[in-house]
Amino acid sequence: MNPSQWIDVTPENFNYSLDHFVIPSHYSKDLESILIPHGVIMDRVEKLAKIIVAQSVGPMVCCCILKGGHQFFADLVNVIKKLTTKDGKSIPLSLEFIRVKSYHNDESGEVKVSLTEEECKEFEGKNILIVEDIIDTGKTMVKLLEKLRQYKPHTLKVAALLLKKTVNSNGYVPDFVGFAIPDAFVVGYALDYNEYFRDLDHVCVISEHGKHKYAI
Ligand code: IMP
Repeated sequence: MNPSQWIDVTPENFNYSLDHFVIPSHYSKDLESILIPHGVIMDRVEKLAKIIVAQSVGPMVCCCILKGGHQFFADLVNVIKKLTTKDGKSIPLSLEFIRVKSYHNDESGEVKVSLTEEECKEFEGKNILIVEDIIDTGKTMVKLLEKLRQYKPHTLKVAALLLKKTVNSNGYVPDFVGFAIPDAFVVGYALDYNEYFRDLDHVCVISEHGKHKYAI
């Protein structure tokens, strides 16, 4: 996907106050601003699904990266399954759920995935679509792809709803990107801060008050 096809979220073009949309009252003091309203996310998901299907080459294994990716995954798969390729064919989908733990400071720099060796071997020859909530430094995704490539999938692509514009990026860019966002900690639409905010529909910037309140 060409960067010109991403939506570039900047404070100039996306700057909604908390009063502009409905947010759960229990988070009223914990958010700085609404970065991407839920309706805009849903419209973007529809377009991403169309782009993915236009490039798809047969049956697809959609892999949800838990927990943060679950909402994006559910909404994306919901659209993909209703679409057809250019020759009018629907795409057979199977679904997989992976929890990924990365050890950035570990010497090995490896990621641990929740799938067994047997389950990973099932990827051989398949078209894999990884569905992730956010790419920050890119370290986790690079390591995950390294690991999954060992199982020789036919194709291995990544759809990320958000790509953070950060100087700490390792340069990794997913195949499909919803929004490029400023370097801030965001929550909502299943993205969490210490397990809070998953029950918020919009993607929002957390406030200092919120960080403090839910710190562990
Ligand atoms: P990376 O390895 O630095 O790209 O980190 C990716 C992971 O960090 C994501 O899958 C998220 O779980 C988490 N993460 C990074 N930035 C944010 C954020 O702004 N909000 C919530 N989670 C984040």
